[in-house]
Amino acid sequence: MSEQTILVTGGTGTTGARVAQRLRARGVTARVASRTSPCHLDWADPGSWDPALARVDAVWLAYAPDLAVPGSDDVLAAVTRRAAAAGVRRVVLLSGRGEPAAQAAELAVRAAADEAGLAWTVVRCSWFVQNFTEGQFAGPLRDGELALPVDDVVEPFVDADDIADVAVAALLDDGHAGRVHELTGPRALTFAAAVAEVAAATGRPMRFRSVTLAEHTAELAAAGVPEDVVALLTHLFREVLDGRNASPTDGVQRALGRPATDLTEAVRRSAAAGCWT
Ligand SMILES: NC(=O)c1ccc[n+]([C@@H]2O[C@H](COP(=O)([O-])OP(=O)(O)OC[C@H]3O[C@@H](n4cnc5c(N)ncnc54)[C@H](OP(=O)(O)O)[C@@H]3O)[C@@H](O)[C@H]2O)c1
Repeated sequence: MSEQTILVTGGTGTTGARVAQRLRARGVTARVASRTSPCHLDWADPGSWDPALARVDAVWLAYAPDLAVPGSDDVLAAVTRRAAAAGVRRVVLLSGRGEPAAQAAELAVRAAADEAGLAWTVVRCSWFVQNFTEGQFAGPLRDGELALPVDDVVEPFVDADDIADVAVAALLDDGHAGRVHELTGPRALTFAAAVAEVAAATGRPMRFRSVTLAEHTAELAAAGVPEDVVALLTHLFREVLDGRNASPTDGVQRALGRPATDLTEAVRRSAAAGCWT
């Protein structure tokens, strides 16, 4: 049994829960941290950081709600410095592809880690498959329709299980320090095609509707989505989904020595796990 302890921030979320489960399977202590976890950590409350970082070997940094929130780079740099002061030896940052704010956060963490002599790895991801199966798109899809301000732009959606596999390798194994793993799925497809795949895998009727950004913002506001979340989503759709991230990478293959998981397979797995019944 290893005596390592890994702090998993966002440990109840899409990637964090998967990272924690894999760490435990390798006999490592995963300290799950979030606002509602027994190990309380709130990015907005610096007083909560040091207790979470005490006696930890490495940290999975999954900032929430999104790296696009102004100031996420400063928070993550400060946490990295506190981690180094607490004796942490590695930090692994979850980042987003083609997002200027995410790249600012990467640079901030790298600089803080380099200055403090801490090993860093960046796991830079395209949009997750799990946005459709368990994230913010799942509710509308259950109701039969997903309306988004995208048309025929394609995205190589990445499986969060692949992200977690890479994260755990970077947290525990050699050869990942100082590397940026840019992760995507093996195939780029439109949001409409992704919805069709979810419908086929689940056997539920689902349709995709392309709307304007203004219509989308109005629909979210009418549905009672909080103003700051609407602003964040609007920003992401305007900024990131212009085709800049259309090309798949070989990041999963390079990090793990095996191919990335296709969306079809990831969606079928979620259906087989009973997520839609
Ligand atoms: N979704 C995508 O397609 C995508 C793509 C690329 C990158 N990303 C990045 O992924 C990150 C989100 O990770 P995820 O999708 O794994 O998580 P997630 O499913 O969005 O869950 C958020 C996690 O963070 C915790 N959390 C929320 N607010 C917090 C706060 N103020 N302080 C501390 N913890 C907080 C939540 O638990 P509590 O509610 O208990 O606090 C939960 O564990 C973001 O930085 C985003 O930029 C997402």
